Amino acid sequence: MRSDTVRSIVRAYDDPVIRLYCWLRFGILRQRFLDEIGQYLPASGAVLDIGCGFGLFSLYYAATGPGRFVRGIDVDGRRIRMARRAAARLGIGNVAYEQGDARDFKGDGEFAAAYMLDIVHHIPPDAVPPLCAALRRSLAPGRRLLVKDVDARPAAKRWFTWALDKAMSPSSPVHYWSADDLTPLLESMGFRVYRHLMVDILPYPHILYVCTAV
Ligand SMILES: C[S@@+](CC[C@H](N)C(=O)[O-])C[C@H]1O[C@@H](n2cnc3c(N)ncnc32)[C@H](O)[C@@H]1O
Repeated sequence: MRSDTVRSIVRAYDDPVIRLYCWLRFGILRQRFLDEIGQYLPASGAVLDIGCGFGLFSLYYAATGPGRFVRGIDVDGRRIRMARRAAARLGIGNVAYEQGDARDFKGDGEFAAAYMLDIVHHIPPDAVPPLCAALRRSLAPGRRLLVKDVDARPAAKRWFTWALDKAMSPSSPVHYWSADDLTPLLESMGFRVYRHLMVDILPYPHILYVCTAV
């Protein structure tokens, strides 16, 4: 059933290039990882997806959690338009998308959970602490922020990830945080951090930071 959900989401995009990207993205964060991440999301309530891209994961977590309302934000207006179109085509009503820069997020509103999937390395490093602080303000104690990113080590895996990032967005600078730097930063913002290692056969140094507001 859930793989059917993935298939129907990919088919909701008209552009074959985007469909290919979606298959690749769902190939990297495949069913097992969707479940590993999804287990930390609440079954209901407002969920914030910062850097939602084309909406793949927001559509998936909205479709598999009808009690959730997922709000996706991305700086790329074209991606937001495609996410809206895919949601309409799929008839998924518990998502909403808006174009916006994560750096402008001020922590307004309360969320049952928030997540950032492979976006922190695209945010300029000095903008990451204020963003994490704003997210902490919008999560009551006990609520979770999930940060999925890649570790800076081992170097060979980081270079592999860097090559793919550059192939996708050649002009976008990237900064990979080491888990030893990002964990204390998140803790200093008022989160208790559990590092969930996402072990992969592909050469990605994935890491999922499960951050509980304290
Ligand atoms: C690697 S993609 C990940 C997209 C999506 N989270 C996923 O996992 O498929 C990174 C996304 O971050 C977005 N992004 C980069 N900088 C951003 C910013 N400052 N504010 C909001 N979104 C940003 C990009 O437009 C892109 O959609």
